[in-house]
This record gives sequence, C-alpha cells and structure tokens, in this order.
Amino acid sequence: MDTQDKETSPVWQFSARAQALSGSAIRDIVKKISQRPEVISFAGGLPSPATFPIDTIRAAFDTVLSREGKAALQYSPTDGYAPLRTWIADTLSTNGARITPEQVLMVSGSQQGLDLLGKVLINEGDPVIVETPTYVGALHAMGIYAPRFVSIPMDEEGLNPAALPEVMKRCGGRASFLYTIPTFQNPTGRTLSHARRVALVEQAARQRLLVVDDDPYRLLDHAGTTYQTLLSMSPAAVVHLGSFSKILAPGIRLGYVVAPLALAQKLEQAKQGADLHTSTLTQMMAYEVIKDGFLDTHLPASRKIYAAQCAAMLQAMEQHFPRGATWTKPTGGMFVWATLPAGIDAAQMLDAALKENVGYVPGGPFFAEAPSPNTMRLSFATVTPEKMREGIARLGKVIAASQAVK
Ligand SMILES: Cc1ncc(COP(=O)(O)O)c(C=O)c1O
Repeated sequence: MDTQDKETSPVWQFSARAQALSGSAIRDIVKKISQRPEVISFAGGLPSPATFPIDTIRAAFDTVLSREGKAALQYSPTDGYAPLRTWIADTLSTNGARITPEQVLMVSGSQQGLDLLGKVLINEGDPVIVETPTYVGALHAMGIYAPRFVSIPMDEEGLNPAALPEVMKRCGGRASFLYTIPTFQNPTGRTLSHARRVALVEQAARQRLLVVDDDPYRLLDHAGTTYQTLLSMSPAAVVHLGSFSKILAPGIRLGYVVAPLALAQKLEQAKQGADLHTSTLTQMMAYEVIKDGFLDTHLPASRKIYAAQCAAMLQAMEQHFPRGATWTKPTGGMFVWATLPAGIDAAQMLDAALKENVGYVPGGPFFAEAPSPNTMRLSFATVTPEKMREGIARLGKVIAASQAVK
C-alpha cells in the first residue's frame, strides 16, 4: 500500500522558514536550457570543463589513498585538514597581514560559508547590505534567515563606499554586515578599484561594520594581475570567502571561510550541526594537488581560455548588439552584464531568445530591491569563440526585434 488513509497519515507542516523558500529562478532557467543542447547558452555560472585538471586530480586521489587511505576515508575535524588550512592562511598573508590557520574554516563550497554566516550573524529583520546587483545565490542562502536586504549602489568601479553613511542611515545605524564580491563580481564582472578598496575599509571601520568579502574569481584575471584582498587590508574587520570551484573544479565542493577567531569558532560550531566536516578525502586531494605550485602553471592556462572567450564575446557584442545597449568590459572572471535599451524586459524576451537557440539569465533576480528589468547576465565561460560569435549574433537580432516591437 503506498497511500495512507486520513486516520493514520502523519500530520506535518512546513516551518515558516520553509514556506518562505522558493527555488532559484536562475537554476530553473539554466536547467531548462541545459536540456536543449542545440541552445548556445550564456546562462550558466559554470566554469569551463576545459580547465578541469582531471588527470592531476585522479593522480592526487591515488597518491592520497595509497599513502594514507585510512585517514583519508575517516571522519576528521570540523575546522578542516590542517595542512590545507595552513596553506590557505599563508597564501592569504599578503601585504603585511598575518592570517593564522585557526582563522580558516574549510567548508563544502563557499556557498556553505554564506549559509553559515547567515546562521550565526543574522536575526530576523536585521539589515544586511548588498551590492546592487549581487550574487543571487547569496540572496538565497542568507534570505532563509530573513534579513532586510539594503542595497548599496555600484558603478563601473564597483560599489561606492561614499554611499555607505547614507546606506547605514537606511539600516537604522547598524547592519549585520556588508556583503561584497570585489573582484570580477557575479553578475556584473566589475572590479572594485584599489582606491575604493581603501575607502571601503576606512568607511566600514568608521561605521563599525563587518565586511564579508566573497572572492571566488580574483585569480581569474586575464593578464594575471593580482588584486589586494580586503582581508589583507583589515583582517580584524573582514570575513573572506574563498573557493576551489573556479580554480580547480566545482564538483569537488571545496571552499573556505577566513574570519576573526571568535567568529571562525562560532561558524565551526554551526558547521558541526550542518555536516560534521567537509570531505576528508577531497581536502587531502586538493592539498596534494596545490602544495607544490600546481596553480602557478594551471591558472595561466585557464586564464588564456577565459581571456579568448571574453574577447570574442565583447567583440561580437560590439558588432551585433543594437545601439542603446551598454555592457561591462571585464578583465577577468566569467561574466558580462548588459543593460538593454529602456523598455525591453529581459525576462519576457527569454522565450524569443530560446526560439533562436540562445540563452542568458535575465538580470531581475540579482537585485535585492528595485530590479532593472532591462538587464541580463552573460557568461562567457563555457562557450568557444566560434560559437560565441554565432550566439551573440542571434541574441543581437532578438534584442533588435524586441526593440522594434516597443
Ligand atoms: C560570488 C559567488 N559566491 C559563491 C559562489 C559559490 O561557490 P562554491 O562553488 O564555492 O560554493 C559562487 C558560485 O558561482 C559565486 O559566484
């Protein structure tokens, strides 16, 4: 019997928290598009599989299992694999800052870090300051804890720290934290200038505001330029989220949170309840891969792929996007953000684009407040230069047709 009658069926209901949950609109779009291989997709936030170091990862798993298989397959401490934490602390100890391994908590993807930060720092109704637009996955992860998102404006140089006093007023003088993706932001591809980094850290100190610096794309600068982390500028006032998803592979689900000690310890307690610890085997594999400088040769190869694809996208947009459209010109990361002529609704236009076998993500869900409907995110990460030109040409035609209808 696979159904129960009314008398014996269990009585249960969703929590208020779960009732407020809804799936990510973007994941739905990406899923729909991924089922149609004929579509040239700029929609996903996926890294290029051409960058995955499959053989190196296979060899590292083999080494770890042969050398210390029993430990690799055992439960392990919640805070993470000590050599990997030390490597991360050392790597982030730049510009005179001294980060200690105790400040590093390994997590199962930096997405888990966002959830844990929400869990330990947000009470219902607390203001959380976010960029406009911002990473939709952060809005989703933190939204579960029911904060009041307050937007800080951005321009081509990233968020505007001069706006912070006004934003803090809107928060009633106190916010749980400010969440920023300073380098090659998702979704805009914008990078916070050095002057603004300095100003942000100064303003945040004046406002006694904790800054959460989400940093998965910094090492993907096309030219290999290194940007100073907010963490190194103010280790006591910045939480740093890092990820191996874009520099090795996202399927290994490995990231880290670096936080002032008391916060790192509280996050560790929250993680104990969430999943006990991040995969021991995966952490040991990742350390085996990176410990002797593998990234020094791997990253330049990945950057070359992304630089070529990004250049092809920007060039094709120049040629095929109608007048009145504008877009960001990233020098790294994975995303371009386009603003279409006023009056075009990118969400409404998606069906027409899919009919032409081209996909993208409408910009609306990336805004915590007041969405701009005429925006879209285009990922150049998984489309080869040849397909790029074809896909952008198709999209240009769809935009021009929507413009004509208005
Ligand atoms: C800004 C940002 N933060 C966090 C994440 C989540 O990354 P991870 O794979 O480490 O969980 C992503 C993924 O795309 C992202 O773009």
